[in-house]
Amino acid sequence: MNRITIEQAGQHAGETVVIPGWLYNLRKSGKIAFPILRDGTGILQCVAVKSQLPEALFEIIKDLTQESSIIVTGKVRAESRAPGGYELDVENLEVVQRVPESDPYPITPKDHGIDFLMDHRHLWLRSRRQHAILRVRHEVIRAIRDYFDDNGFTLLDTPIFTPAACEGTTSLFEVDYFDDEKVYLTQSGQLYNEATAMAFGNVYTFGPTFRAEKSKTRRHLTELWLVEPEMAYAPLAAVKRVAEELVLFVVGRVLKNRRAELATLERDVSKLEAVQAPFPRISYDQAVEVLKKKGSEIQWGGDFGGTDETLVSEDYDRPLMVDRYPTAIKAFYMQPDPDRPEVALGVDVLAPEGYGEIIGGGQRVHDLDLLLRRIEEQKLPAEAFNWYIDLRKYGSVPHGGFGMGVERCVAWICGLEHVREAIPFPRMLHRTRP
Ligand code: 4AD
Ligand code: MG
Repeated sequence: MNRITIEQAGQHAGETVVIPGWLYNLRKSGKIAFPILRDGTGILQCVAVKSQLPEALFEIIKDLTQESSIIVTGKVRAESRAPGGYELDVENLEVVQRVPESDPYPITPKDHGIDFLMDHRHLWLRSRRQHAILRVRHEVIRAIRDYFDDNGFTLLDTPIFTPAACEGTTSLFEVDYFDDEKVYLTQSGQLYNEATAMAFGNVYTFGPTFRAEKSKTRRHLTELWLVEPEMAYAPLAAVKRVAEELVLFVVGRVLKNRRAELATLERDVSKLEAVQAPFPRISYDQAVEVLKKKGSEIQWGGDFGGTDETLVSEDYDRPLMVDRYPTAIKAFYMQPDPDRPEVALGVDVLAPEGYGEIIGGGQRVHDLDLLLRRIEEQKLPAEAFNWYIDLRKYGSVPHGGFGMGVERCVAWICGLEHVREAIPFPRMLHRTRP
């Protein structure tokens, strides 16, 4: 049997092939039926002609129900009007499981509300749009790995159970560990990355991280995938260079390999094609001036809200790098600028089109006394940081890195309203199911 996937149909024009899949949709008239087949790689229109099939088989095809699992045998035919360029002339069709009329597939081609769709996320994943988004996600993840693997970074996974906060105690999920010990779900692998960077030079970690902020915005998940590179002997400028290269590489790969998915999403690809080096670079000071002129309430010293991020980046057609935020609003590990300690050597990358921060990072405190002071000022439990402090005692060097959130990046590249569609099973403030 010549079993193929829909994606491969183009290489089999004129041949009889077998494609296992599911019935996406069905159009029919008296003498002809068009079962639309999906198989996870694509969607293919099949043509079943009554006069060319056994009568019983045509009846079965004509009465198929949405999402029934079927194995279709037929001949691939080039058809310029078909999406994808091919159709399949049905010769046989085996029903593996027929969805009963009494309990039909819940997601129909009509419009459903977002809560209904999120409740049915396990099924919603099958729809054309969700499928396209998650294929882009895969391409983004693959590109991220390729970029680091091909540029001398070693992957070293960091733990998820951690004894202390990395990004501030207000957004920590606490877990009961054994014997009354409390641990926390990691917010970022950065602190451990700093240890592996001192052992391996250029490293990255890539995994799920957790944020317990009670934010109900289109940019916030409680469980997100974060890729974090860390580099020994690297100043802020190197961090920015790698961040820019990574974003360029990822966008370039999606444009190269996921055109069809971007078309399904009706994404304006000219917006992605505009993402070219160099990215504009401004300071926090400059950003505050711009925001004030645009009518924001921001005062020097305050953090940007989502609206501020949108306002400050709207003048650019490519990601904007904002550096040197006030030290006081940044994490304890951020290196203050030696010439101006009230600002830190950190950078955020803000995506265009109002997508806001996709990357945060910078240079780390490498001086032992300064680090001890910062830990004390922020009233962090020094005991949990002993191992981290060691890194400043034994061969400390200037170093830095950043974190890029996969879902925010995918939401931007796909042009989504909300990050919830950028991950197979989102976890949010009021969403832990399915
Ligand atoms: O800016 P953040 O908090 O930086 C860190 O965690 C650093 N320790 C990273 C580092 O330097 N190694 O988070 C990094 C990125 C953000 O820019 C954003 O893309 C994403 O993680 N992110 C979220 N994405 C979705 N939902 C949330 N609640 C997010 N919080 C952060
Ligand atoms: Mg940040």
